[in-house]
Amino acid sequence: MVSRVGHRPLLPVALASLSTQHPSAMSSEILSQIDQFLESQSDRFEAQLIELLRIPSVSADSQHASDVRQAADWLVTRLAACGLSTELIPTAGYPIVYAESPPVPGKPVALIYGHYDVQPPDPLDEWITPPFEPARRDGNLVARGATDDKGQMLTHVQSVAAWLQTVGHLPIQVKLLIEGEEEVGSENLEMFLVENRERLACDCVVISDTSQFAPGRPAITYGLRGIACYELRLTGPKQDLHSGSFGGAVTNPAKELTRLLASLIDDEGRVQVPGFYDQVEPLSEVEREQWAALPTDEQAFQQQLGVKGLSGERGYSQLEQRWARPTFDINGMWSGYQGEGPKTIIPARAGAKFSFRLVPYQDPAKITAALQAMLESQLPPGVEMELIDYHGAPGFVVPLESPYVQAASRAIEQGFGTRPVMIREGGSIPIVTQFAEQLQAEVLLLGWGQDDDNTHGPNEKFCLADFHRGIRASAHLWHHLAALPDSV
Ligand code: BES
Ligand code: ZN
Repeated sequence: MVSRVGHRPLLPVALASLSTQHPSAMSSEILSQIDQFLESQSDRFEAQLIELLRIPSVSADSQHASDVRQAADWLVTRLAACGLSTELIPTAGYPIVYAESPPVPGKPVALIYGHYDVQPPDPLDEWITPPFEPARRDGNLVARGATDDKGQMLTHVQSVAAWLQTVGHLPIQVKLLIEGEEEVGSENLEMFLVENRERLACDCVVISDTSQFAPGRPAITYGLRGIACYELRLTGPKQDLHSGSFGGAVTNPAKELTRLLASLIDDEGRVQVPGFYDQVEPLSEVEREQWAALPTDEQAFQQQLGVKGLSGERGYSQLEQRWARPTFDINGMWSGYQGEGPKTIIPARAGAKFSFRLVPYQDPAKITAALQAMLESQLPPGVEMELIDYHGAPGFVVPLESPYVQAASRAIEQGFGTRPVMIREGGSIPIVTQFAEQLQAEVLLLGWGQDDDNTHGPNEKFCLADFHRGIRASAHLWHHLAALPDSV
């Protein structure tokens, strides 16, 4: 508990007349008043999301630097307009947006984390409508960042605004921390966190940047994979060469690139970096059984992805492969001639971006060292290599037996009309481990997205009904957290 001084919160001015009622009747009255308010505001909430989605805040691309800053400014304006004390905090990279409501003695403090940056929208020609011109289609809002994470993050901003507008204050203190570098590894936020532990002190961290298990099946995510992300650059001859004149004698960087990358994983889907699995714990039988009981449809899954088959680490189910096993992926590669028709050259350069997804206890720094040594040991004469270590974050699992999880579960049930299932997911939120370690707070991953939201790909979408359900669940969450006994 951050600070527990036994005062009860002030009664809301607007609802003071209810003070003689039984407390639970009063709180259900407050919640239904908030629900009504949310319904009346749904168009305005969507319009605000559309405004934010129009800003192309792509953090990986420096050409969008001023857009990323504009998204931060937009949030500052919005949060200040809600009546929160709000600040734009500069970092060595993109600014952190920070806001807080007044302390509520004796009640928990929730830190809401989200990100206003988005992934690059490429490949542009595969978008049905332009990525930064939000379009309504089939009950969804389609735009880069719709679900990851502008739409999900905004659900909490809107729920906080709703409490402030209807009740006049929140039943707990909330602190909002919204960054602009999540999609590039959150390194500046990590430093900010270490230096601002007091200011960010909280009991739980609420994050909506994950997914539901399926439509109509909301979830609480209790585990995420970590990540280690790289770029490999190979340089050969000083310029492209005629492959007839020189082929056979000269080391071809493109050929070496494919050889090196292929050496990182075997035919059974096992990563070959020495020591890679040393810290990997076997999956527990309980988890394996629970996941096996979750409804999955292999045919539908393949159809959703547009593939006719799947491959993955042998001996593991699809959910196990995606949620709890480490893996290797190539994210992009380039070399040589890409234009129309053939061109017979030995390219001077070749490169690839690739990443490992990690599970708890794997250490990204150890993996980088082993990877560097492995690649260097295989490098033939005639090519130079440079390995760029972009960022790394460990995997993460949180305990489920927690009153905060129970409060979240109740809130989700009220927001979505059904109890959430407990899942793990395969994506990464680099800062989560730091929240748990530095702030000693519980992390609640409450995702409103769907697996088929096309995050990081063309035609990213967010279901508008889930947007509104998420706002309602969030509004109820503040109430259920406030109702937790003081001994938490
Ligand atoms: N929203 C995702 C995280 C996520 C994705 C959680 C899928 C669960 C399922 C987040 O914004 C993200 O994409 N993170 C990056 C982090 C990386 C760039 C350091 C990721 O996972 O690739
Ligand atoms: Zn995200």
